[in-house]
Amino acid sequence: MKTKGASSPVAIIAAVILTGCAVPLRSNDSRPDRITEESARGKRLFQGHCARCHGIQATGGFGPSLAQPKLRNAPDQAALIRVIRNGIPDTAMPGAWQISDGDARLLASYVRTLGKVVPRPMPGDAVQGRAIYEGKGTCATCHRIQGQGGVTGPDLTSVGRRRGPEYLRQALVDPGAALPEVGGDAHAPPGYAQFLPVRVLMREGREIQGIRLNEDDFTIQLRDADHRIHSLRKSELSQLQKEFGKSPMPSYESVLTPAELDDLIAYLASLRGDE
Ligand code: HEC
Ligand code: HEC
Repeated sequence: MKTKGASSPVAIIAAVILTGCAVPLRSNDSRPDRITEESARGKRLFQGHCARCHGIQATGGFGPSLAQPKLRNAPDQAALIRVIRNGIPDTAMPGAWQISDGDARLLASYVRTLGKVVPRPMPGDAVQGRAIYEGKGTCATCHRIQGQGGVTGPDLTSVGRRRGPEYLRQALVDPGAALPEVGGDAHAPPGYAQFLPVRVLMREGREIQGIRLNEDDFTIQLRDADHRIHSLRKSELSQLQKEFGKSPMPSYESVLTPAELDDLIAYLASLRGDE
């Protein structure tokens, strides 16, 4: 007598379902050209959505380098997909909610391959850089690190975790050019609208220059170079000039030697906050 087995219709259907679906899927996924195709798509997505901030090689820019073995905010694939989808709240990392789930997965897989690249060592010496920051550069008159220093510029406590070395260099030699887009574009990162230089001409003839602290339809507050705060009614002004793309920070290109700049950048890159 025949045993129940291969010839039973149920078993045949089951076998067809199994082989018809599971097997080809598995072999498809591991086909080398399929893998290459997926990582090429991941790379294209990266270039389209992420490179303008993280750099075309992902070594950092306005955003941090993603070519790191461990990402603080994205320790695994699931967390990385969440960061890609939702961004990081209260930071300039935006969410890419418009991309599909499949694309978010490909993008995350691509970003994870970047961490396997051995990072290039930085040329400068961070200890020397710190001395320049505190001495010759007089950076602390405007910037704060761990609560110490001025408030004319942004807090640099964790700047090395948020920005790439190329951006840091640009911030020093060509301040303003490194600024993320400000004004106009509602989708632009928060950037430095808070450090916008403004120049106002009062109706009575006085001119005041400073950094905008606050503004609404009727008033504007600014801080001048002597740290005095001016609160002005717009109706008292005959001119209000906002100098987008201009920075109150001086360029250090001719103040520091190339080696000193390297040291300073190495120091800034080492500032990683509480990490
Ligand atoms: C508008 C600029 C901008 C764009 C576009 C952008 N990022 Fe970011 N990203 C940032 C900034 C700035 C940070 C640092 C946030 C912080 O910690 O202050 C960041 C942080 C991250 C982090 C966390 C890194 C870590 O070490 O924890 C990941 C991961 C990341 N971005 C991935 C991406 C990916 C993938 C894309 C493309 C889908 C992307 N980002 C697009 C600016 C951007
Ligand atoms: C007169 C005030 C002033 C001085 C002095 C100054 N900065 Fe700045 N810095 C600013 C302001 C304001 C910004 C905000 C962006 C801009 O306007 O360029 C800034 C931006 C930066 C940024 C970009 C920060 C970010 O999160 O994107 C870095 C890095 C930086 N400064 C480092 C330095 C260093 C290092 C020195 C000393 C060699 C220095 N600054 C001296 C005012 C100053």
